[in-house]
Amino acid sequence: MEIEELPSEEHRQILDVQIESSSSPILDPFLLSFQNLTYDVKVSTKTGFPFPWNKSNVSSETNTKSLLRGISGEAREGQIMAILGASGSGKSTLIDALANRISKQSLKGTITLNGEVLDSGLSKVISAYVMQDDLLFPMLTVEETLMFSAEFRLPRSVSKRKKRERVRSLIDQLGLRNAAKTVIGDEGHRGVSGGERRRVSIGIDIIHDPILLFLDEPTSGLDSTSAFMVVKVLQRIAQSGSIVIMAIHQPSSRILGLIDRLIILSHGRALYNDSPPNLSHFFSDFGHPIPINENPSEFALDLIRELEGTPSGTQNLFEFNKSWKASSMDDNGGGDDIASMKRTTLPLKDAIAKSISRGKLVSGGGTGGANQSLSVPPFANPFYIEVMVLSKRLLTNSRRMPAKFAVRLGTITVTGIVLATMFWQLDDSPAGVQERLGCISISIATIFFNCITEVPTFIQERYIFMRETAYNAYRRSSYVLARSITHIPLLFNLALTLSLITFWAVGLAGGVPGFLFFFVTILAAFWAGSSFAAFISGLIPDVFLAFVSGIAIVSYFLFLCGFLVARDRLPKYWLWFHYISLVKYPYEAILQNEFLDPTECYVTGVQLFDQTALGALPAPVKSELVASMGHVLGRNITSSTCLTTGKDILKQQGITELSKWNCVWVTVAWGFFFRILFYLTLLFGSKNKRK
Ligand SMILES: Nc1ncnc2c1ncn2[C@@H]1O[C@H](COP(=O)(O)OP(=O)(O)OP(=O)(O)O)[C@@H](O)[C@H]1O
Ligand SMILES: [Mg+2]
Repeated sequence: MEIEELPSEEHRQILDVQIESSSSPILDPFLLSFQNLTYDVKVSTKTGFPFPWNKSNVSSETNTKSLLRGISGEAREGQIMAILGASGSGKSTLIDALANRISKQSLKGTITLNGEVLDSGLSKVISAYVMQDDLLFPMLTVEETLMFSAEFRLPRSVSKRKKRERVRSLIDQLGLRNAAKTVIGDEGHRGVSGGERRRVSIGIDIIHDPILLFLDEPTSGLDSTSAFMVVKVLQRIAQSGSIVIMAIHQPSSRILGLIDRLIILSHGRALYNDSPPNLSHFFSDFGHPIPINENPSEFALDLIRELEGTPSGTQNLFEFNKSWKASSMDDNGGGDDIASMKRTTLPLKDAIAKSISRGKLVSGGGTGGANQSLSVPPFANPFYIEVMVLSKRLLTNSRRMPAKFAVRLGTITVTGIVLATMFWQLDDSPAGVQERLGCISISIATIFFNCITEVPTFIQERYIFMRETAYNAYRRSSYVLARSITHIPLLFNLALTLSLITFWAVGLAGGVPGFLFFFVTILAAFWAGSSFAAFISGLIPDVFLAFVSGIAIVSYFLFLCGFLVARDRLPKYWLWFHYISLVKYPYEAILQNEFLDPTECYVTGVQLFDQTALGALPAPVKSELVASMGHVLGRNITSSTCLTTGKDILKQQGITELSKWNCVWVTVAWGFFFRILFYLTLLFGSKNKRK
């Protein structure tokens, strides 16, 4: 931590003076202006299910609540705008509105950048948003987290060394040097402190030097020195040509000195909208002068809280703010609006191109000159780079959490051992055949149940994914592909373990080729199961609901796969579910592997009576019985005549439609199908916008 970062009183005054005396036109500044922002939500008492498509909760009683009420203002390049207010006053909501995170239908009013309405695509590319919550991969270190962010956000043209340098300087600026090698941590693992985590969250979103930077309470939970350092970093970003807008709780006077513009909110209305030094004039004009030595922002918030408790509320202050602004405009000969007109705001495209040519918005490529037509690519890197970086990050994180893998492997091993011992060396008698069917169907179902345990991991990651894709860190498709690729080694290990434990112990048929086919089928089932789990977690982003639904659906897959009731005996209205049962296809593949040997016989002669009351008769009597049955049928049946072949068993099970390899391909295809559905749920279900 470099103490020299902290400016002296003198330095701060210089900063203030610089800002105050900035009446001479600044060249090509960005100007974000917002007029009359109004945002109402319908409040209902009922809560619905947290499905992504659940747009509004149906309720008989809905009230409208105004979260923002006619807020106007301007934020300029090179400046920090701070939004202040008590908890619940609407700070986060205003930041969301400005950051284009509220749907256009609900938000009234206009927001323009250099006079042009920002479209959603461009705003994603040029802005960054630091959330109030920290969502990070728990098992990566601070340095790794920032480095991965640099790899997503900075284009390929920036060398690895430059990226590393940038990360290092950011670590220094954010005062994270001592924590650089510490893992982030979570509830289960001790990691960096809360304040450090906050700063990492800020770091990953400012690494590419966005033009518009929105931060929701970047300083909460930090000690005053760290908070000051963070705002100082933000000031540096602003001065490098960005607009910084942040919500903040109780800024210290040092931080207040860094802020250029202050909006104080109360119940969604702006009660003050000017520079911090003018606070004292404002309140003395209002008849409540700020006592010397008191922090002006604290005083303002206390007074507003007090007024909120009075019958007339903050109405007087609200009216006073309006008239005060009008009169100060007259005094200044037109005030801010005229001043901003004096500024030469370039058309937006030119301003962005110029900004990029100055090295801003590193994700934009930064190679073109100011004259280039605006070509800010939506993503910093090509698809394959994103897949590589994402895969590396997923692997690093999961490698550091071996317990998760160990638990899955453990359950598969235990299940395998239980099955192997239960069904130890099955014979080919009619009872053995029944047990084989049971063993195979249960093994397949186990695979799917095991895969459902991936749901919580997927859901936990989903929020990180949403945060990152909201501002185009990478493509959604890259994530889906990286997630799938990095899963395969894990699935391979699980499939191999289960196959090795059960195949030989149970005595399944086919020798080494049989084993290989068995393994491939089990692997395909793991792939389909894992894709299914991903889909469920994309569809239902609530761990409990997703888990319960996943387990229930896998149970139905098992019920209707054809083992308990063969296809031709199923009620017609369940046939569709039989065909979508993921258990059906691997089950049928393995059964065919098991029973397709033409030399194998499963019921010979007297074994016909095995599972009937006649089975208890003495052997000679049974031989006589089969002989006389043969006599009736006109066939010679002895005790060694084969009465049921593998083919017959498959027919009884209704396995007549697909060959064994086709069953495997169908299973693999289901896996791809669910991955595509997973992608679609992410595409449509994580809009990241408030309604
Ligand atoms: N969807 C919603 N339905 C009803 N009320 C909402 C909804 N979203 C936000 N609010 C309310 O809007 C108000 C403003 O919320 P917001 O999150 O902007 O507050 P804040 O100033 O950021 O508070 P804090 O400092 O605690 O983060 C709060 O009273 C909140 O309860
Ligand atoms: Mg908030």
